[in-house]
Amino acid sequence: MDCNRRHLLCGLGGLAVGGAVAGLVAPALAAPQAAPAPGERFAQVGGEFGWQPHKLNADECAPVAYEGYWHKGYACGYGAFYGIIGMMGEKFGAPYNQFPFTMLEANKGGISDWGTICGALYGAAAAFALFWGRRERTPMVNELFRWYETTALPIYNPGDAATGFKGALPTGVSDSVLCHISVSKWCYENKIEASSKQRSERCGRLTADVCRKAIEIMNAKIEQGKNYKGTFPIRKAVAGCGECHMTKGNEANWSKGVMDCTPCHSGGKAVADKFKDHP
Ligand code: HEC
Ligand code: HEC
Repeated sequence: MDCNRRHLLCGLGGLAVGGAVAGLVAPALAAPQAAPAPGERFAQVGGEFGWQPHKLNADECAPVAYEGYWHKGYACGYGAFYGIIGMMGEKFGAPYNQFPFTMLEANKGGISDWGTICGALYGAAAAFALFWGRRERTPMVNELFRWYETTALPIYNPGDAATGFKGALPTGVSDSVLCHISVSKWCYENKIEASSKQRSERCGRLTADVCRKAIEIMNAKIEQGKNYKGTFPIRKAVAGCGECHMTKGNEANWSKGVMDCTPCHSGGKAVADKFKDHP
């Protein structure tokens, strides 16, 4: 991370991890700033992307993410984020423990139950963004999201600590980072209602899985610094379709995003016309 003079507080944040020093530094970080002059904007407290990242133990954090999912029903975004930043707060104090964690509750059900991005994924990406700007963060997000698209989830099993449903759950590959596709496909394939406890349990476990993967990525990033590279290749469809639809200067350069194109543009049964001759 870039801790130059402009990021003076970044250095202070580093000191704060000493433990005892944290109490001294925290009020400084939280101190109110003078209002900016008219037409000017205030500088971000702590510097932009200015917090100091710490390695975490994924074995310890994944169950906390699961617990966070169930905590007052704050769900996936909150659980994944608390499993990372909350755990830094528990270990290192300020500034991590000063984050308004409930902000992440908005990610429940793909943002207020809209089924857009999987909230656990957003929670992790937001955690990355406390420490790394776009150029450094994107390979980390790519790694996490492509892992999510291609991995049979959920993996985590809380055993007797299960809150919604005890026992094994079926797993499935979503091919998509979207809550809607990830949940609906799993429910359809296993004939489980989307509003059931099993489905909630599935998402709670998946929150632990995302937290674990995000911590593995973060730890690798801390070790490798600017050289960090993910291991999951770009999806074949994105590379192929992108040759025309995502290539500057091409007459068909209309497509935005690097989600796998397959679930929506393969003409499969689920994406055929359901508005006629449908039960
Ligand atoms: C060789 C270049 C090329 C590749 C590769 C390509 N497309 Fe296209 N695509 C086009 C062009 C050109 C059009 C516009 C055709 C037209 O005007 O009817 C188009 C149109 C489309 C459209 C809108 C119109 C329609 O027919 O539905 C979609 C959606 C689309 N492509 C998706 C994809 C996907 C998904 C892939 C990968 C599986 C892909 N394309 C691969 C060139 C390409
Ligand atoms: C989550 C589903 C989803 C994914 C994933 C997705 N698309 Fe689309 N895409 C759509 C929908 C829905 C539209 C709007 C179609 C319409 O116009 O009715 C669209 C529009 C497009 C269009 C404009 C053509 C049109 O008919 O509007 C292109 C080109 C396109 N997509 C290409 C891609 C490519 C390439 C990828 C992969 C990199 C991709 N899409 C991934 C659902 C998706």
